[in-house]
Amino acid sequence: MKTRIIGTGSYLPENIVTNDDLSKIMDTSDEWISSRTGIKERHLVKDETTASMSIEAARRAMEDAGVTAEEIDLIILGTVSADYITPACACEVQAAIGAHRAVAFDINAACSGFMFALNIANAYLQAGIYKTALILGAETLSKIMDWSDRSTCVLFGDGAGAAVVRADDNVGLLAYDQGSDGARGMVLAGQNRTNNNPLVETSKELQYVHMDGQEVYKFAVTAVPASLQKVIAEAGLTVEDIDYFALHQANIRIIQSVAKRLKVSEDKFPISLDHCGNISAASVPILLDEMNKKGLLKPGMKIAMSGFGGGLTWASAVLEW
Ligand code: COA
Repeated sequence: MKTRIIGTGSYLPENIVTNDDLSKIMDTSDEWISSRTGIKERHLVKDETTASMSIEAARRAMEDAGVTAEEIDLIILGTVSADYITPACACEVQAAIGAHRAVAFDINAACSGFMFALNIANAYLQAGIYKTALILGAETLSKIMDWSDRSTCVLFGDGAGAAVVRADDNVGLLAYDQGSDGARGMVLAGQNRTNNNPLVETSKELQYVHMDGQEVYKFAVTAVPASLQKVIAEAGLTVEDIDYFALHQANIRIIQSVAKRLKVSEDKFPISLDHCGNISAASVPILLDEMNKKGLLKPGMKIAMSGFGGGLTWASAVLEW
């Protein structure tokens, strides 16, 4: 039995903010951002929320898969920017789409969130507990950015991506790898709330994401190729057998470095970061949906996917489409 992706969907906010737009409100330039990251523009929310984007992405994935809400057993949503601490964003999605039979919960594995959700769904499906799952990655990163910190805020965007996965006798996930390195977690951190009770003096200062960009870069360019090589070998394949590499869209230079280390043409690495920026857990499913809707994904193709980021966390998979 395998876990097969049978439909994809995504949603990007209506409003687009270009690098030139940013250069009008902070000391940056299209040249600096483009040359270091490959990012040209990002979508930012105005009225959308993490839940509203997730719900739209979920509806599109279900339509693509041809499944009804009644058929969904499980909803897992990766996010670091849900609208509420509780209820989980996955529960908001459940209510909106009417998947009343489903069990729904959020997970936090930052930019690896969608890949972790895929692996958790895979475990449930492999165990025979559930048959059909809706997995999502959704972020409103713009609300946890310090817009006076040009070294982080220019990198990120908002959006949501979703996939429907189902147990299949023949086709689907061939191998999986995931890992965490909490000892290095503080190189990419965003604090939620400080202690707040009668025993402590409460800091009212808002907390935002901060990052040691160079350390994160070093982590990504070593962990990602190693994880991909491992998972490709476990699938009984070589890098030449992989038709596409769908990587977390953090930075074009990370993707180029991974391609170089694997000795694979960059043409096999589709890109969405140019028009999306880094959308953490939503990056991989949005990219996958764009590949799907462009008709790039054909039955029998071998697709390698990888997410990496805060935690630190990473996760890769190889699947037959
Ligand atoms: N516009 C213009 N200048 C900027 C800037 C911006 N948006 N952000 C930073 N700078 C400046 C810095 O202040 C610094 O100036 P200084 O030399 O006068 O001090 C200079 O640019 C270089 O900064 P530095 O941080 O050393 O740049 P870098 O070459 O390391 O590139 C990143 C920064 C973030 C692009 C790079 O480290 C990176 O891609 N890291 C990985 C980040 C990532 O992908 N994170 C998410 C993973 S999930």
